[in-house]
Amino acid sequence: MTKLLTLNAYAKLNIGLRVLGLRKDGFHELHTHMHTIDLCDELTFQKTKSSVEIDIVPVTDIPLEKNLIYKAIRLFQQKSKIDQNVQCKLTKVIPMGAGLGGGSSDAAATLVALNQLFDTNYSNNTLAEWGAGLGSDIPFFIEGGFACAKGRGEILRTLDSPYQDHTFVVIIPSIECSTPEVFKAWDEFADSMSIHDVSCEQMDSQNDLQASACRRYPKLKAYEKLIQSAPTNLKGMSGSGSSWYVGFTNEREAKAYQTQLQSLQLEAHIHCVKAITTTKE
Ligand code: C5P
Repeated sequence: MTKLLTLNAYAKLNIGLRVLGLRKDGFHELHTHMHTIDLCDELTFQKTKSSVEIDIVPVTDIPLEKNLIYKAIRLFQQKSKIDQNVQCKLTKVIPMGAGLGGGSSDAAATLVALNQLFDTNYSNNTLAEWGAGLGSDIPFFIEGGFACAKGRGEILRTLDSPYQDHTFVVIIPSIECSTPEVFKAWDEFADSMSIHDVSCEQMDSQNDLQASACRRYPKLKAYEKLIQSAPTNLKGMSGSGSSWYVGFTNEREAKAYQTQLQSLQLEAHIHCVKAITTTKE
């Protein structure tokens, strides 16, 4: 019987993000802290003698060649010189354009899965190096946990998490943010006087992309206002939006806040999630 391999691809939150400038290669120099959370997609792989297939639930209209899972499969085949194809079934929970890294996490999980399926034993560092060519935050998702990321987001330093026992209420508006568009808005409107880095220890939940995301997607302003009145100080926007988080040390208070938000009938999904430091099941 053909071996099936199932993995979870976890989402992340950016707890603090500084944009330090536009680089010559068109990317932006960043300093951010990323934390894995237990919201996840599920991917199942198996080898096949026919062509690559990706079966997505719920169905989407993304062309196969544009799917990051497909790109990760092709990248793995090219690097490992293995030409056997695989089939993938993806159960999608992390929405696109939410700033939670769903697509990147799927791609990272694909590299990890194929490494196991073909017994190739590549190190996580090697998979991260390959993944960086596909997307800036794919290296983070190879191991996950809590890390400081610099450069494009691919230069990582693992940190001890101060959020291990925290519960986060994550608000995912039905607004899909384009990361390039939000960075473009930052290029147009950021005030160079306000650009400054902080040390790792001083990183707070400020996100320098927040104003640009709200300018490009004005409907986000309502969520910005909403979380201003949230009952903790650990709160902000994740990545380039559209998601927002509010962190609690007490799970019961987090659940109460989730219930309170649910009663507002927002056009948003509201999840209560745990910050996790290991993605090994
Ligand atoms: O690396 P990734 O494919 O996720 O980036 C998507 C887009 O986001 C890039 O093409 C770029 O426009 C923008 N980006 C950026 N600076 C970064 C990361 C992403 O400008 N550090």
